[in-house]
Amino acid sequence: MMAKKTDNHNLPAKLALRRYFLRKYHSSGPAHVLDCCQGGGVLWKVLRKEFAVASYWGVDLKPKKGRLKIDSTRILAQTGWPQNVVDIDTYGSPWKHWEAMLPNVSRPTTVFLTSGMVALGGTSLTKEVKEALGLGGIMPPKAIVAKLQAIAASYCLARACNHNIIISEAIEAVSDGNACYIGVRLEPIENEQPGLQPGCSEHPIPEEEESNV
Ligand SMILES: C[S@@+](CC[C@H](N)C(=O)[O-])C[C@H]1O[C@@H](n2cnc3c(N)ncnc32)[C@H](O)[C@@H]1O
Repeated sequence: MMAKKTDNHNLPAKLALRRYFLRKYHSSGPAHVLDCCQGGGVLWKVLRKEFAVASYWGVDLKPKKGRLKIDSTRILAQTGWPQNVVDIDTYGSPWKHWEAMLPNVSRPTTVFLTSGMVALGGTSLTKEVKEALGLGGIMPPKAIVAKLQAIAASYCLARACNHNIIISEAIEAVSDGNACYIGVRLEPIENEQPGLQPGCSEHPIPEEEESNV
């Protein structure tokens, strides 16, 4: 039976993970948030009441009044985005976002990843996962795909090394198994762009994007 898609199936786990990283890494400096999969904006509506979020930009593939409708991998694939918190709360696989983002991480950044039901229970591997697993063009038999899905996150996360980025902390929240919630802290090595502070974008965000939850 196909599992029903729910935007925030395990809200307490998602929130707990985000609170942990926000307290640890963003209590002494401003958090600038790029919410790549805003959906109903539930998570950051709660978190913005609890934490000092200096700027917030939420986008989604789904149209909504006052929100940019975009595939957020296209934002992450550009250089110069100013945020230091990137939330990739997809229904399915977050690894296309991850791969698009890695070459463009220019400052210490906190990233949240949801690997959803589609990825965990799916019968095929995404292009990004196959690459990370070193499978190239090989299409593994369905019988072992589930096992490969189970180890995919470690291999995908390790791709940060290819971009001179250290993962200084990675945590998976306890969940009921329908999805996997991961938080990571990225520290680029000698990759800081001189003069570009968090929040100071090469591509300034219009004022109205601030209040789009
Ligand atoms: C689990 S929901 C997000 C829930 C949201 N974080 C919240 O707090 O309510 C997943 C959302 O990701 C969006 N999405 C999936 N892939 C996307 C992409 N490549 N770019 C932008 N949005 C995407 C979907 O349209 C959906 O609204």
